[in-house]
Amino acid sequence: MSLFVTFEGPEGAGKSSVVRRLAAELTARGYAVVATREPGGTKIGEAIRQILLAPDHCGMLPQTEALLNTAARAQHVAEVIRPALAAGKIVLCDRYIDSTLAYQGAGRGLDQEELLQLQRFATGGLWPDLTVLLDVPVEIGQARRRASGEPLSRFDADALGFHERVRAGFLAAARSEPRRWRIIDATRGEEEVAQEALAVVLERLPPRPVRQ
Ligand code: TYD
Repeated sequence: MSLFVTFEGPEGAGKSSVVRRLAAELTARGYAVVATREPGGTKIGEAIRQILLAPDHCGMLPQTEALLNTAARAQHVAEVIRPALAAGKIVLCDRYIDSTLAYQGAGRGLDQEELLQLQRFATGGLWPDLTVLLDVPVEIGQARRRASGEPLSRFDADALGFHERVRAGFLAAARSEPRRWRIIDATRGEEEVAQEALAVVLERLPPRPVRQ
């Protein structure tokens, strides 16, 4: 049985480590798992990611951000996500369409309906079965980012108000579509958050994986 799960949230919510832990736990239980991320996940997508995140690209228009993220997504869906789902795998994806709606829509102010049309064009209407929102207040997320020692991206330079709108965008999306979304409080320790995310994913899976 295939399952498409996406992970969303503001900066510093801990998505990438939760995805890594979850992939290991599910693989150990015998499920076939593909863990991937956006923007990126393909050769072309990772090249687009470099353009998007470069700190010196501070003049990038919101429209350019939306188009580049969505272009990387088109490549990702065709090369990685659809083939994995067709092979009956579980796809765990760090960010997807909802990031474009939250960052370029709620955050930068682009029209949601236009962004949705673009997503249909790029993905052929592929939506996740389950979206896990790792929610964390902006100040906590940003403090974690600074403490992590990871190289800072263009988005780290954005004002607090931008990141507050992004977080509010995610929460509004989650509340408007509760069957697809699960909100997890990501202010707790990584282990606890990963265990809750695992439980949420296991709820959607048959108890025993079908061996390929
Ligand atoms: P990344 O380092 O992966 O951030 P994080 O660790 O917080 O996930 O960088 C991805 C950045 O790109 C992040 O700031 C969110 C942004 N983004 C968009 O603005 N729109 C999108 O559609 C996607 C997928 C990401």
